[in-house]
Amino acid sequence: MTVRILVLNGPNLGRLGVREPEIYGSMDHDELAAACVATGADLGLDVEVRQTDDEATLVGWLHEASDAAAGVVLNPAAFTHYSYALRDAIAGCACPVVEVHLTNPAAREEFRHTSVVAGVCLGTVAGFGVDSYRLALRALASSAGPGA
Ligand code: DQA
Repeated sequence: MTVRILVLNGPNLGRLGVREPEIYGSMDHDELAAACVATGADLGLDVEVRQTDDEATLVGWLHEASDAAAGVVLNPAAFTHYSYALRDAIAGCACPVVEVHLTNPAAREEFRHTSVVAGVCLGTVAGFGVDSYRLALRALASSAGPGA
């Protein structure tokens, strides 16, 4: 049985590697995606990674995941802090959604301390760079896999 997981990355994450590397590191989005696919393969998960700067596209992908995936790893990026549209899409999602962040927003500027999506996610992993994604996939493998 295939356990399909979507890893969804929000605005500006396509610029990883060149975007504020002192904050987000030197890994680019393709490398992040490859790390997620490799971790998924180790865990028996079929992982697909997507990135968009567009809120409506992310909402559409969450609807798609609800109908056709076993779980979602979501880095909503700046949308984390103000998108009620994303929050509602997560709340309506039939599969579990894990919020991830490369950095620890709680240790950064005040406006990043609020997540409007955290309350409708299965959990949040933040502050561990690409390992935030690996840990989130591990959590989904435990909660969304066969025999969960
Ligand atoms: C981020 C943290 C957000 O506050 C920020 O807007 C991002 C990236 C992270 O992964 O650390 O774009 O989600």
